Amino acid sequence: MKFFIDTANLNQIKEAQDLGVLDGVTTNPSLMAKEGITGADKILKHYVDICEAVEGDVSAEVIAVDFEGMIKEGEQLAALHPQIVVKIPMIKDGIKALKYFSDRNIKTNCTLIFSAGQALLAAKAGATYVSPFIGRLDDISTDGLSLINEIREIYDNYAFETEILAASIRHTMHIIDCAKIGADVMTGPLNAIMGLLNHPLTDSGLQKFLEDYKKGN
Ligand code: G3P
Repeated sequence: MKFFIDTANLNQIKEAQDLGVLDGVTTNPSLMAKEGITGADKILKHYVDICEAVEGDVSAEVIAVDFEGMIKEGEQLAALHPQIVVKIPMIKDGIKALKYFSDRNIKTNCTLIFSAGQALLAAKAGATYVSPFIGRLDDISTDGLSLINEIREIYDNYAFETEILAASIRHTMHIIDCAKIGADVMTGPLNAIMGLLNHPLTDSGLQKFLEDYKKGN
């Protein structure tokens, strides 16, 4: 399972990278704005800074919602750095754009996936990744993990190569549940990743080992 961090915060990205388990980064316009990164020039530079801080794929989202606009922006983003993956919204022109980039071997991430049908369409169009938003489904009393299950079944039925990138991960249990289902990738916040470390028996066990070592020295 690949681990991506879902943030535009460079300190958090570097902390996850230093841990040695990071496989990539996802961002979106909201995450950029949260870090105060606004305006096209600053945003483009920030993508390059992120690429230089990590190894692996870095999703950069287009703002255009028409085919020509998405192609123009996507090509500009892809030219920024070899690690860039062009993030395209799940809309009709987005499907056409996924096919365009797939035909040219440019990696894509189809975002805002909320149904199995959308994931099927994105895979048919050759998306590298699909991003089902499980937390946002949970927010409206719909089981986000069931969607991951459905997409896994469909992709396995036909050996689609599109990778399931479980997104809108809110907590550590989401990561574990996605791993059990077989999501190829999860993207989540740093605290959800760090939550995997925690167990009180580890803490008390380590404390006891250290105390006993001191007794003998
Ligand atoms: O990767 C998608 C993610 O950024 C959305 O997360 O927490 O805003 O639903 P959230």
